[in-house]
Amino acid sequence: MNIIEAKNIVYEYPDGTEALKHIDFKVEKGDIVALLGPNGAGKSTLFLHFNGILEPASGEILIDNKRLKYDRKSLLKVRQKIGIVFQNPDDQLFAPTVEEDVAFGPLNIGLSQEEAKKRVEDSLKKVGMEGFEKKPPHHLSGGQKKRIAIAGILAMGPEVMILDEPTSGLDPKGASKILKLLYKLNDEGMTIIISTHDVDLVPIYAKKINVINKGKIIKEGTPHEVFDDVDIIRKANLRLPRIAHLVEILEKEDQFKLADHYPLTIGEARKSILEHIDK
Ligand SMILES: Nc1ncnc2c1ncn2[C@@H]1O[C@H](COP(=O)(O)OP(=O)(O)OP(=O)(O)O)[C@@H](O)[C@H]1O
Ligand SMILES: [Mg+2]
Repeated sequence: MNIIEAKNIVYEYPDGTEALKHIDFKVEKGDIVALLGPNGAGKSTLFLHFNGILEPASGEILIDNKRLKYDRKSLLKVRQKIGIVFQNPDDQLFAPTVEEDVAFGPLNIGLSQEEAKKRVEDSLKKVGMEGFEKKPPHHLSGGQKKRIAIAGILAMGPEVMILDEPTSGLDPKGASKILKLLYKLNDEGMTIIISTHDVDLVPIYAKKINVINKGKIIKEGTPHEVFDDVDIIRKANLRLPRIAHLVEILEKEDQFKLADHYPLTIGEARKSILEHIDK
């Protein structure tokens, strides 16, 4: 079943920028999907449609196959179900301290002080930010703010978590910790949608990729289906994962063919190389 579906969405900003041009996009319940695209492609604009922050000029958003409505009550409901971590944490964090910020969502949906406290502790631990409870969010570093923003949405226990560039600004260990966490949450049943232009990270976690460029979805499929279409990837100002690029050069310049598909991750490359040596 599709938990989120965008049908023929058109969106124009007030200054006339046509940010989304007839977008179709769907996510099945339990999926982990990446929206891959260069700067200005329309990723953030599309995401803001999924819980009704933006309303399309034409087309419709379906949540659980029902058309999203834009009255206050419907929006409150959809925002409990679908949590969005904004690209810029400064758009999200506002409370005087980290713990108040993360507790805001849970208290707002009517949970007890005690339950909210538990959720704050739990989510700060999950993002590696325990010990920062009393700090004002505006005194944190960029990467730390990002983690607090993720914790704030996590604490609401949404059914779907949408993360706009969740790893940008994080150090390698922090990024890998967040990705592992998202993978685990997905394993436990949460639907996860991530936007990124990080082509090295995307094949490690995403089961499906949608490529967006200039307001249009130009390709969708498994990581291999998407990255096999090298022309489309390069046309969208993206590139192959580094490891795939190396194998592409070996094949084109040195007539060394490793396997039918370019490996997209270190793990895949390792497997192919070992198989090649065996032969
Ligand atoms: N508030 C706004 N008013 C006018 N135009 C906007 C506004 N926000 C975004 N745009 C334009 O809409 C288009 C899509 O922007 P969007 O922020 O959705 O891209 P993105 O894919 O998220 O890019 P990035 O990778 O840089 O975050 C761009 O051309 C951008 O300039
Ligand atoms: Mg963006």
